[in-house]
Amino acid sequence: MAPRTKYDVVSEIAKRRGFYWPSFEIYGGMSGFVTYGDLGTKLKRNIEALWKEHFVRRQGFLEIDDPVINPERVFQASGHLENFKEHSSMCTKCGKSFRADHLIEEKTGMENVEAMGGEAIKSLMVDHKIKCPNCGGQLKEPTLILTMFKTEIGATGGEIGYARPETAQAMFMNYKRAFQHNREKLPFALAQASKVLRNEISPRQGMIRLREFTIMELELFFDPEDPACPWFSEVKDITINLYTEKMMENDIKEPLVITISEAVEKGLILTEWQGYFMGVSHQFIQAIGVPPEKQRYRAHLPDERAHYSLQTYDQEVQLETWGWIEMSGCAYRTDFDLKNHMEASGIDMTVLREDGTRFIPYVVEPSYGLDRLMYATLENSYERKNKRNIFHLPRNLAPYQVAVFPLVSKDRLPEKAEEVRSMLIQKGFWVTYDEKGSIGRRYARSDEVGTPLAVAIDYKTVEEGILTIRDRDSWTQVSTTINDLPSALEAYFKGEKEFSDLGAPVVRE
Ligand code: GLY
Repeated sequence: MAPRTKYDVVSEIAKRRGFYWPSFEIYGGMSGFVTYGDLGTKLKRNIEALWKEHFVRRQGFLEIDDPVINPERVFQASGHLENFKEHSSMCTKCGKSFRADHLIEEKTGMENVEAMGGEAIKSLMVDHKIKCPNCGGQLKEPTLILTMFKTEIGATGGEIGYARPETAQAMFMNYKRAFQHNREKLPFALAQASKVLRNEISPRQGMIRLREFTIMELELFFDPEDPACPWFSEVKDITINLYTEKMMENDIKEPLVITISEAVEKGLILTEWQGYFMGVSHQFIQAIGVPPEKQRYRAHLPDERAHYSLQTYDQEVQLETWGWIEMSGCAYRTDFDLKNHMEASGIDMTVLREDGTRFIPYVVEPSYGLDRLMYATLENSYERKNKRNIFHLPRNLAPYQVAVFPLVSKDRLPEKAEEVRSMLIQKGFWVTYDEKGSIGRRYARSDEVGTPLAVAIDYKTVEEGILTIRDRDSWTQVSTTINDLPSALEAYFKGEKEFSDLGAPVVRE
């Protein structure tokens, strides 16, 4: 049997406790689709809220929510119909298709084969005698296949439609209206966190490569003659691990450790806006629990870069099972998309400068895969300690904040615990309650779903109103009163207090 990877370990807990599991399970499943249970839905929602905190609320950017199905002409104009393709190789024996670059990577350990281009992929398939991973049969020469879901709009078959593979086109198509809502001021951004679909050829990396997933992205519109970012100073001293396009071409293994401002000054990052978002993104990824040494930015080579981009940096995070995996991409889309939509629709999208000249705004886009971020959050927070599983989730991301446990289920303790639970719910906390089994087992179950705090109700609570709070991370306890509990928890979840400040230490013999 193949050894259990970290992904297997995390996914087993995720399935058993209700974070996520493969969709359509009762019908045998279908790769590339995932179902979120209660815990996963809440964790994902909290990560999305944290993203909006970093990328939307602080800057006063605008949001939008646009349809998943788009008519064909949208993707004709955007260039996706022509370019949103992958190299696919079909087995002559079993008829299954596979992504050629991924087969090469699996067989050889090479990285980023997509960036080498079609001819190299074809020869590598032959040189390494790559066979069908399903039946060992002969594979055909790879061909480019469109990886968008196609449908018909209208039940009787009318217009061809496609599910969007990115949300960005919504921001471009609605740019002019939103610009008016923004009182015709630049720079501004339109953000969207929503579902997209990609008809992946043979997704084999679970949560990392899904056919239906949530993208969180924003399009920042600016005047190319006024490219300064007003918040650049907030991130300029952040140090990042960078692999530039040149370094990638020369196969340099060690990253350039450089500040954002130096990288922009040297022209390694083309615009201040990209630098700004890369800096904020470094902080955001750290806030979901990934330390700086497990983060890097890697430039796309021209063959890997999307058709709309002049420069793209992928933000990669080191995962135990798969190595460096893209969590976000920061693309310099220039005026490519607005220009195309302007030509195809005939709608003028130019902006008038004070000096009477007109221009099409330029665009920088940071874009995130929420489902991968959720997996990275879980993997990075996982610890196995004393035969127990713990998710040390950041306290602002945990699906539930507090668990309430009566020490025993008798002597009015459950009634008292119920009082405390309903008080905390009224105060707006996310609370779970459990009275079954030993309290030790209940603490263990609560650690396994990453609940930061557990409140124990014992005889002292009934008699004197005193209870204990237990910390998921240190397994230590403090005591406080029922009356002081809500304000203590509020301060803790706002990050104003640490656990040891929440009450008097409890010494266990
Ligand atoms: N808009 C980013 C992407 O398509 O990946």
